[in-house]
Amino acid sequence: MELIRPPWWREKWPERSGVRDGSEVLEEGFGFGTSPLIAARMAGPQGQVYALDLSPAGVIALWLRAKLYRLKNLRVILGDAKHTGLPDSSVDVGFIADAFHEFPDKPGTLRELHRVLRAGATLAVLEDTAGGAKKAAALVQESGLFALEQRDGNYARFRKEASVIDPLPEHHWVAQAGRSSRSTRTRTPV
Ligand SMILES: C[S@@+](CC[C@H](N)C(=O)[O-])C[C@H]1O[C@@H](n2cnc3c(N)ncnc32)[C@H](O)[C@@H]1O
Repeated sequence: MELIRPPWWREKWPERSGVRDGSEVLEEGFGFGTSPLIAARMAGPQGQVYALDLSPAGVIALWLRAKLYRLKNLRVILGDAKHTGLPDSSVDVGFIADAFHEFPDKPGTLRELHRVLRAGATLAVLEDTAGGAKKAAALVQESGLFALEQRDGNYARFRKEASVIDPLPEHHWVAQAGRSSRSTRTRTPV
């Protein structure tokens, strides 16, 4: 899909997710890497973009593209979405485009995103299909780690919750697969 999307289409998502001059951005599952290149230009020299993917070919391709465009504020990371290696509370915008459905450990990934995002930071999730977008939005909300701010078609934007309220263990997520709510569970603020 990535190669057939025009640049104006790619630009609107980081814009809508609040990427601006000086932003620190993390994109997980970047594929060929067009979105992180756009985000790095938007964030400018005072900003920093971390682009993570577990495909070595994708990482090499983006590293070469960043060199070609002389983007010094783009760091390419080879790794799994649930282990970024970034410091706590260091990111303003987390962005995932057409990749969340591929992450095998979604609760672990959301916990990692919650750890690295600053208080009040944005998590944006874009999926290619309506079904994928609905499932992703439900899982993010059910984690209790992020509050939904906006949902528009296949795009959803969340804000990091200031306090963590008893995120569900992984086995619960598996048991609840296919259900849209967990209203029967009592959550305890910590
Ligand atoms: C369909 S591509 C998305 C490409 C791009 N973000 C786009 O907008 O077109 C999904 C990407 O997620 C990556 N991916 C899958 N599982 C991952 C994981 N556990 N951690 C990091 N990246 C992962 C794949 O290597 C692939 O590059």
